[in-house]
Amino acid sequence: MLNKLFRRNTERPNLMLAERISLVKNEMIPTHIAIIMDGNGRWAKKRALPRVAGHHEGMKTVRKITRLANDLGVKALTVYAFSTENWKRPKMEVDFLMRLPEEFLGTYLPELIEQNVRVEMMGEIDSIPPHTHAAVNKAMLATKDNTGLVLNFALNYGSRSEITKATQSLAEQVKQGKLLPSEITEEMLSQHLMTCSLPEPDLLIRTSGEVRLSNFMLWQLAYTEFWFTDTLWPDFDESCLLDAVESYQKRNRRYGGLKGE
Ligand code: FPP
Repeated sequence: MLNKLFRRNTERPNLMLAERISLVKNEMIPTHIAIIMDGNGRWAKKRALPRVAGHHEGMKTVRKITRLANDLGVKALTVYAFSTENWKRPKMEVDFLMRLPEEFLGTYLPELIEQNVRVEMMGEIDSIPPHTHAAVNKAMLATKDNTGLVLNFALNYGSRSEITKATQSLAEQVKQGKLLPSEITEEMLSQHLMTCSLPEPDLLIRTSGEVRLSNFMLWQLAYTEFWFTDTLWPDFDESCLLDAVESYQKRNRRYGGLKGE
């Protein structure tokens, strides 16, 4: 099973990238890809660099992958940039991570605009530093009318907290007599999540060999196809994204039903 999940593309190793891209475009493209970008620290350690050098390199990977995902016709790309648990890291690393959106958007916003990408953010935004919030807000405003890929940053995001807040909000409606407990549906809960405007992810990618969800989109990933790779996030390139999408294109999604239904 794990072998299948970790399988790299060995069938068409000599195809040029452009040719692979055009073949992939002929098949079903995942509408929403979610990525747990893991392995930045190990990438840096292997090079005797500080951990933050790995995060900085990882930022460049976000640029590459956004560009290709948009080109493939992916509609939404959610990247796990900072979890509600990441505050436990050393202050210096947290400060660096909270500066990265500014650097990323400060450097690449013009090309995101040119590529028709719309920037979005989900997470407990009130507790991120004002400078981070301001940088992302500025990009969201500047790209709000764009119709290409939605680049959704999960920033100070935690799925259990998200589900808890959605539940509290529905409970409040019950308390006010607007809703009966028996009237609560899955759809209503989905509509109270931070992803309410996005389709559920079709494909989840986690890099660096870790095989867990780390409190990421637990509700939304119920029927998502998973792709795990040993590649560390800073090394994840266009060819790796194509590996993942090619694997997705061979999956038989049954949603609990039977093959062919
Ligand atoms: C996990 O790797 C990665 C993170 C907690 C941060 C992810 C952030 C980026 C990839 C930077 C991109 C951000 C923007 C805003 C463009 P890790 O540090 O846990 O790696 P390790 O497991 O090897 O230590």
